Amino acid sequence: QKIVLAYSGGLDTSVILKWLAEEYKCSVIAYSADIGQEEDWEAVRAKGLATGAEKVIVSDLKTEFVENYIFPAFRSNAIYEGSYLLGTSLARPLIAKEQVRIALEEGADAVSHGATGKGNDQVRFELAYIGLAPKLKIIAPWRLWDLNSRQKLVEFAQQHAIPIPVTKEKPYSSDENLLHISFEGGILEDPWNEPDPAMFKLTVAPEQAPDQPTYLEVEFCHGDPVALDGRRLDPLPLFQTLNKLGGANGIGRLDLVENRFVGMKSRGVYETPGGTILREAHRALETITLDREVMRIRDSLVPRYSELIYNGFWFSPERELLQTTMDACQQSVNGTVRLKLYKGNCTVVGRRSDQSLYQESFATFEEDTVYDQADATGFIRLNGLRLRIQALQKR
Ligand code: ARG
Ligand code: SIN
Repeated sequence: QKIVLAYSGGLDTSVILKWLAEEYKCSVIAYSADIGQEEDWEAVRAKGLATGAEKVIVSDLKTEFVENYIFPAFRSNAIYEGSYLLGTSLARPLIAKEQVRIALEEGADAVSHGATGKGNDQVRFELAYIGLAPKLKIIAPWRLWDLNSRQKLVEFAQQHAIPIPVTKEKPYSSDENLLHISFEGGILEDPWNEPDPAMFKLTVAPEQAPDQPTYLEVEFCHGDPVALDGRRLDPLPLFQTLNKLGGANGIGRLDLVENRFVGMKSRGVYETPGGTILREAHRALETITLDREVMRIRDSLVPRYSELIYNGFWFSPERELLQTTMDACQQSVNGTVRLKLYKGNCTVVGRRSDQSLYQESFATFEEDTVYDQADATGFIRLNGLRLRIQALQKR
């Protein structure tokens, strides 16, 4: 028997690595995904081997994450419950997809992960495993073992010579990738508690951001950003630049309570610097390049699309259907948006496009030759017909 474990090198997945090897008396491959989190990969490799992995595999998924997960979601304006930009929800299916690829390549029988039985991540990992490789066995240790407290995990680690991080333990759980860092649990569990300013990692506090605004031009092609300030960039460096600019200007902090798929409410704090800028810029360009009725229909689908990503159905026929629809309406989303980044705010100050539907000649308050104001008389009379009949009836 052979198991491929999604391994981060932290305490939980280190304990899982040892526990799997003992419990199933088999070899374990520790697999780590580099999706842009800050990490010492050599140390992760060494720790995985020292903890008993047959092999440690680190896969660089950064480019794929930006091109095939972040960009499709932002083309679609994905947002969960009106505020969450889905940073973790988008990363899980990609991590799982690579894990499945490795499992099949290595001839493994099972895949395992360190998500708890109370969260969203277990669902996202496992729906992806099932959708991509239905024959692989799934092992979710958090739902099987009795190491259900921090204290028990630490004791298990001590008994098995697993190094426990010397750094003072963080009083919350976090998950970092190119799109965001999330903070949950611990001292954040009381939704009345304001987070400690020292917790934030990707952004400066808006109060500490520069006193001068930063202006930025983002150019789009078919709904994807392709250039910053006139300079063409590949998706990964482009998105990394947006993260830097957003972080330096205190943009993208968010503190919310969300509904988990399994049913409970959960308090989360997020930093999504580049994603917040990208969303603002994209929506601004759509205001001049999308037809009104197309935009209305598309907007009505955004909550469905976002919810299915949050709930773990990235690899599903309904996500593919919606993606096709979302992408079809992006054909005309070409042009440039000018933004002002200043102390936590990202304000749109200009937009232009060769395909703009905004026509000054129609909109102008000055005299024009294209619009006959007298037409509006009949337009309003007929729109008011029902209202007139109702009002007459009531009298
Ligand atoms: N609540 C967010 C989500 O469900 C973030 C989850 C963070 N996951 C974690 N293992 N810390 O997408
Ligand atoms: C976990 O429970 O493993 C993390 C939080 C979540 O998945 O929602």
